[in-house]
Amino acid sequence: MATSVTIVESANGGLAALVRGAGLTVRVVELSAGLGAVDQSAPPDVLVLDLRTSASVPSDLATFKRRHPRTGVVIAVPAFDPKIMLEAMRAGVTEAVADPVTALDLRAAIDRVLGQHTPEVEQGKVLAFLGAKGGVGTTTLAINVAAALAVEHRNSVLIADLHVTGHGDAALYLGVEPRFSIVDAIENVNKLDRAVLQSLVVRAKCGADVLAAPERPSTRNLEGHQLRALLERLSKLYPYVVLDLPQSDLGAIDAIEPVSQLTLVVNQELPTVRRASRVAALLRQRYGKDRVHMAVSRYDSRAEIGQDDVERVVGLPVWAVLPSDYRRAVQSANAGEPIVAEQGNRLAKVIQQFAQKLAGRPSEASGLRSLAKTAGRFGGML
Ligand SMILES: Nc1ncnc2c1ncn2[C@@H]1O[C@H](COP(=O)(O)OP(=O)(O)OP(=O)(O)O)[C@@H](O)[C@H]1O
Ligand SMILES: [Mg+2]
Repeated sequence: MATSVTIVESANGGLAALVRGAGLTVRVVELSAGLGAVDQSAPPDVLVLDLRTSASVPSDLATFKRRHPRTGVVIAVPAFDPKIMLEAMRAGVTEAVADPVTALDLRAAIDRVLGQHTPEVEQGKVLAFLGAKGGVGTTTLAINVAAALAVEHRNSVLIADLHVTGHGDAALYLGVEPRFSIVDAIENVNKLDRAVLQSLVVRAKCGADVLAAPERPSTRNLEGHQLRALLERLSKLYPYVVLDLPQSDLGAIDAIEPVSQLTLVVNQELPTVRRASRVAALLRQRYGKDRVHMAVSRYDSRAEIGQDDVERVVGLPVWAVLPSDYRRAVQSANAGEPIVAEQGNRLAKVIQQFAQKLAGRPSEASGLRSLAKTAGRFGGML
């Protein structure tokens, strides 16, 4: 079926000509007649709204979008002004083009909103990462697992940074500068469809979408019901949702149903192990032992506390032992490029294998177990 495009613009706006020039058939509605003049009985696939001469988003756009959720909306603006963009996003707009608008820009924006009509997934996997203590390497592991999954599963991976009250690092480690954050997603959770979410996330070079922590930390933690509602939406929109959880907010632990796997990240220091054993008790009680395991970060084979000690004291199995490679980890964070992008790096390899195990391919998981047996003291998967 041909794509139907309606353009709302003034007589000499010129957008209709550009869209026709891009090979699409259009209907034009005079800007002064407003959205009320758009055919409501047969709403278009795409609505292009010319806002280049007005300072705000029409007040009835949100109502229009609620009534016709399948109509994608593209706005043309004089410039990407954050105030208008936020207003537009709240009204359900997912694409904007700025002056000088070209036929190519418009066609690309229209194609993007059309591409957003892909079906929801039944239930994506939610992979959560929680540090037993600050600074153990949780974000490094979470973003690298997301990056490893994104290479194999294009357009399928979202990493959400839940550090609402503190500075989250996921966006920085992935080299992106988001305009919106998880707080905007929470505020819009009731209309969080693929199109709205797409306007809030940024695609990192590795292919994962990033829903970042806010630039300015909020003074309040997320409430359990908000987090639960958000995760339910996200896991319907992405096959893989990776969560970087704040270790300071144990309340969040109670709200991350539906979680598929939770990785408690530890190191070999006594305070971390002690704290891990307390957190593990909570996690086992809440999610059952099959959904919770550990990763030992910055592993030192000569440390006083060995892997067996960690497993015994904490009471969870260790699924990954991450070699210590401080130089590489810091370099990667500074460059905003995940470690897994590097061929032949040992830490990268271990994280890739771990990501595959989390993604749940049974044949590979069992293959990895036998690989670990021959991998020596720094062996990755167990
Ligand atoms: N496997 C590793 N080997 C060596 N250094 C590492 C490793 N993983 C992470 N690091 C380094 O440890 C430091 C902390 O890492 P990261 O930010 O991932 O920890 P975190 O647990 O998320 O910290 P926070 O509690 O601040 O969120 C960083 O300097 C990082 O480069
Ligand atoms: Mg972190």
